[in-house]
Amino acid sequence: MSQPLVLGIETSCDETAIGIVRGRTLLANEIASSVEEHARFGGVVPEIASRAHLEAILPSIERAVRDAKISLKDLDAIAVTAGPGLVGALLVGTASAAGLAQGLGLPLYGVNHLAAHVSVDYLTHDLPTDPTIALLVSGGHSSLLQVNDITSSITKLGATMDDAAGEAFDKIARILNLGFPGGPAIDHDARNGNPSAIDFPRGLTTTNDWEVRPYDFSFSGLKTAVARYLEATPENIRADVSASFQEAVVDVLLLKALAACKSSGIDSLVIAGGVAANSRLREVAADRCAKAGIQLRIPSPGLCTDNGAMVAALGSLMVSAGRPATEGAFDADSSLQVERVSL
Ligand code: KG4
Ligand code: ZN
Repeated sequence: MSQPLVLGIETSCDETAIGIVRGRTLLANEIASSVEEHARFGGVVPEIASRAHLEAILPSIERAVRDAKISLKDLDAIAVTAGPGLVGALLVGTASAAGLAQGLGLPLYGVNHLAAHVSVDYLTHDLPTDPTIALLVSGGHSSLLQVNDITSSITKLGATMDDAAGEAFDKIARILNLGFPGGPAIDHDARNGNPSAIDFPRGLTTTNDWEVRPYDFSFSGLKTAVARYLEATPENIRADVSASFQEAVVDVLLLKALAACKSSGIDSLVIAGGVAANSRLREVAADRCAKAGIQLRIPSPGLCTDNGAMVAALGSLMVSAGRPATEGAFDADSSLQVERVSL
């Protein structure tokens, strides 16, 4: 099927998100977020997220169907995030998707949230026919991947040893009293700061690290360095701290992503996940990739953070590629590995 009409459901964290695509065309992207209910706790509270999904899911599906100007009976398939994520949150999505698919007699695809982040790029840019390197940077994961075929073959080259990149943004924002989630707040604050003001450490970049762990990341040393700097420098300029911290994260992410391109001989890079919305990451990536002759693809900022369009996009690619649907009842897998594109 070349232009399948697919509804995607995403509930792995705090967004109840529904996307509808026809082939590579986005028809609806409905997002209900419970972020404000979590803000005072400084992070996502699983029970609050699950309850919010239960309340939001049916109205969100109805709104998406209305926006897309389709009828549920026109659909060719349902796709849902099966993991990784918060198990109670995931289950609201998988149970709803299973009920919908069964009621409508449609194939159901239980897909990987991380692969979905990468696949949303194909709503904007052409599907690469050759392998591509993907830098996946979100609140829960940071990894470097070699994507041979987004519907079936992903190899992990490296990952973070401690905090995810987004988690580092969230933790530093908390120390700087910038609120939650921290990424957008630091991105904004950093615009008034000097990125070279403070030389914060770049994790896992010693000569030995480049030999032993070339594609792994570590952000915990950076977090400690920022905390120590703030203690030792009470008269600090917050925007300079934000900008210098952000620069250290951006620098190390791109050093490693470009090294992966170089050593694999792959001259194409996709950057995906919530942190890919970061304006400085997008700017420095464009500059360095142009100089290195690497074709860069980054989804629009609104499609980088969690959404339903990415799940629908991966579902649509699965249908077009003739991949089998997920058979029978399936459990959400809160620690689903990135190499498993679908269940
Ligand atoms: O992909 P995502 O929406 O959810 C997960 O799957 O985790 O990523 C959320 C993360 C949060 O840590 C958030 O602070 C970060 O992405 N983020 C950003 C920006 N927008 C969101 N980080 C840096 N700069 C941004 N503009
Ligand atoms: Zn995500």
